[in-house]
Amino acid sequence: MQQNTEPTAPEPTAPEATAGVPGARRPESSRPAPPRVTLRSDLRASGYDGLVALIVTGAVFWLLWVRINDRSSSTATVMPFMADDPEGFWLYFLSQAFGWSALLWAWGTVILGLLLSGSRPAWLPLSGPRLERLHRTTSLNVIVLTLAHALLFAAELVRHDQDSWYASAWTAFVEAFVPGGYASGTGRIAIPIGQAALYLAIPLGLLFYVRHRIGPRTWRVMHRFVIVVYVASVWHTLLYGTNVWYDGWFRTSIWLLQLPIAALFLVRLLRPARRAQRLAAPGSSPGAKAAWTLRAAGRLAVAGVVVAVLAVLATGRDGGRGEPPADTSSTHHHD
Ligand code: HEM
Repeated sequence: MQQNTEPTAPEPTAPEATAGVPGARRPESSRPAPPRVTLRSDLRASGYDGLVALIVTGAVFWLLWVRINDRSSSTATVMPFMADDPEGFWLYFLSQAFGWSALLWAWGTVILGLLLSGSRPAWLPLSGPRLERLHRTTSLNVIVLTLAHALLFAAELVRHDQDSWYASAWTAFVEAFVPGGYASGTGRIAIPIGQAALYLAIPLGLLFYVRHRIGPRTWRVMHRFVIVVYVASVWHTLLYGTNVWYDGWFRTSIWLLQLPIAALFLVRLLRPARRAQRLAAPGSSPGAKAAWTLRAAGRLAVAGVVVAVLAVLATGRDGGRGEPPADTSSTHHHD
């Protein structure tokens, strides 16, 4: 989920002014070019960030494990059979934990991207290039964490399938990775939304590494669609996450996390880092007027999202299901 952050060239220095002066800046032309960022170099650099993500996933898994065992997790209410036999479903809880770290990393990388493409606050302790690198490595880790989330879900399906291993592996693959392959309950909608997020994140994230081939402009235009990946990820979670199944503070906190994203997005549209993206007075041609109207409508829509998130937070109406009666021992409401 990289953003437009081509390194900014320093002010050129006149060679004749600095020649022979000890300590003077070397002219631009004689300075070694910075090493080109490649997928391989970023994959290497994403190790530390990935390690932190694994530690966070471990901590979330532990929390989910404790909560399923004492039945305080709403997953236990939605699917009581899992709480009756937690050892039998540990892969499922691990998949949930990877889902949370994927979402958290997606949140972080979108914030970093918006800071890079909008106006970066002066108090931020990270330099532009470091922020940019962190944005790239966290983006790569979102893909890895989401793949782990979906693969573990598929592995759990295989474990509980009585068929031969290859038949159950095929069914699990179709259910987890093929849109429309999962045919029951809310999963019919929620799983394809998650898949859309994953399948869009891969090309939109990786195109950065071939931007010199497709052209920086094409890359920049395509990269903007990354926000769709993020919205789909949040939508998938709110629709299908059994830990946020019901109304309540945890579900409302997910909405709260969207406030900085919506606000930064609005700031990025109102005060973009690139002058060309500012909303100047509309030109006189019909095309220029239409483009201006479209851009102004985009800004209004994002302002509307900020207001909607504030309304959810103020009212607590977060779109969750109402809690069922306490005795759900014989029901399975995973719809
Ligand atoms: C191939 C794509 C995907 C598949 C097959 C998939 C599958 C699932 C399933 C089956 C659940 C329900 C688990 C539960 O009982 O809570 C779920 C929940 C969740 N998913 Fe995904 N997902 C996919 C993509 C994503 C993406 C892209 C993200 C975020 C970046 C994500 C984050 C989450 C989160 C945070 C939960 C809530 C877990 C919980 O309630 O504890 N998923 N996903």
